Amino acid sequence: LAAAQWQSCANNNGNYTPNSTYQANLRLLSSTLPKKAASNTNLFATATVGDVPDMVHALTLCRGDFNASACQSCVATAFEDAQQLCAYNKEAAVYYDPCMLKFSNKNFLATTDTDNQGLLLYNTQNFTTNADITQRLLFTLINSTAQSAANSSRRFTTSRLDVGSSPTLYCLMQCTPDLTADDCMACFQSVLSVTLQYLGGRQGGRVLGVRCNMRYEMYPFFQGDPTLRIINLAPEVPAINNNTTPATVQPPAAAPPPDGKATVQEQNGRSSRKRALLIIAVVAPLSSILLCFICSVVWMRRRRKGSL
Ligand SMILES: *[C@@H]1O[C@H](CO)[C@@H](O)[C@H](O)[C@H]1NC(C)=O
Ligand SMILES: *[C@@H]1O[C@H](CO)[C@@H](O)[C@H](O)[C@H]1NC(C)=O
Ligand SMILES: *[C@@H]1O[C@H](CO)[C@@H](O)[C@H](O)[C@H]1NC(C)=O
Ligand SMILES: *[C@@H]1O[C@H](CO)[C@@H](O)[C@H](O)[C@H]1NC(C)=O
Ligand SMILES: *[C@@H]1O[C@H](CO)[C@@H](O)[C@H](O)[C@H]1NC(C)=O
Ligand SMILES: *[C@@H]1O[C@H](CO)[C@@H](O)[C@H](O)[C@H]1NC(C)=O
Repeated sequence: LAAAQWQSCANNNGNYTPNSTYQANLRLLSSTLPKKAASNTNLFATATVGDVPDMVHALTLCRGDFNASACQSCVATAFEDAQQLCAYNKEAAVYYDPCMLKFSNKNFLATTDTDNQGLLLYNTQNFTTNADITQRLLFTLINSTAQSAANSSRRFTTSRLDVGSSPTLYCLMQCTPDLTADDCMACFQSVLSVTLQYLGGRQGGRVLGVRCNMRYEMYPFFQGDPTLRIINLAPEVPAINNNTTPATVQPPAAAPPPDGKATVQEQNGRSSRKRALLIIAVVAPLSSILLCFICSVVWMRRRRKGSL
């Protein structure tokens, strides 16, 4: 059973050769990191092995609602797949539902900056009923979920929004737990920018990155009850359970800015590297199989500012 999976191979970061020290270091990581992540309460692990120039840095994070054994097997699979899908690339990132993995010869662990291997996936179907309001509610949902996740100790929040006659929306956001609340929120700001520019009106979408990620759908896709529940003018709806924080929010008065250029420039200003954003359209899942096809690849070059 092939799980949904997406990869981002760094083609400009050099290759290693078969039987090289780099490959041996990568193998060493692949034999230790899955267990290390599974034994961490936040299902998060980083590691570095070897010496320059064969040093390999790796980071893995499992989704907060998966258990340790699912996490461990996902990370193990990720190592295998990455070495096939991005054959001999020194740097690669792979994303699955339960986990993500990135390894590189560059020490990306030293920075909490937003990554340059983000993936954007979206459902090709748009909101149909109350599209305008639903879209605004979506931004409210993502914003509130971001605040909650950044402020939580695990940097992880699942949420559900039920407002009036608008469709119910589900959202999940997570940062790597080593980020401060501020760095996590800064990463989510990029997610919000990307959402504003590319995801408006889509029935589902994901922004996948190394440091933070977001997914929303019109159907429940995470395990367990949402930890944040957003209701509006519906106080009669009881909280789902005692762990749920009810919140009442107003939809933003104005629609999100249609001028995506401004938000993307702001987002690029945060990154110190060339940003690669791979955009993939995802058809609504049928019998749990995601059909993917690549829509376009957008390369955005950072405008250099000052001495940075
Ligand atoms: C790598 O090692 C294996 C087993 O030791 C050997 O069969 C293979 O020919 C080697 N490949 C290269 C490119 O050296
Ligand atoms: C972990 O989760 C998987 C599904 O995600 C489930 O099949 C398995 O039984 C769970 N294992 C434990 C120990 O809870
Ligand atoms: C959804 O909306 C986008 C942007 O408005 C549009 O380009 C696309 O064709 C729409 N998709 C469908 C299936 O209607
Ligand atoms: C996001 O939420 C915070 C607090 O919940 C609020 O202060 C802020 O104005 C919101 N931002 C947007 C763009 O709605
Ligand atoms: C963050 O969490 C603390 C306690 O965990 C809470 O007191 C505070 O109100 C929260 N802040 C936000 C913005 O949610
Ligand atoms: C949930 O809260 C209600 C009262 O607010 C209490 O009666 C009930 O025992 C609680 N349930 C659990 C599982 O803690």
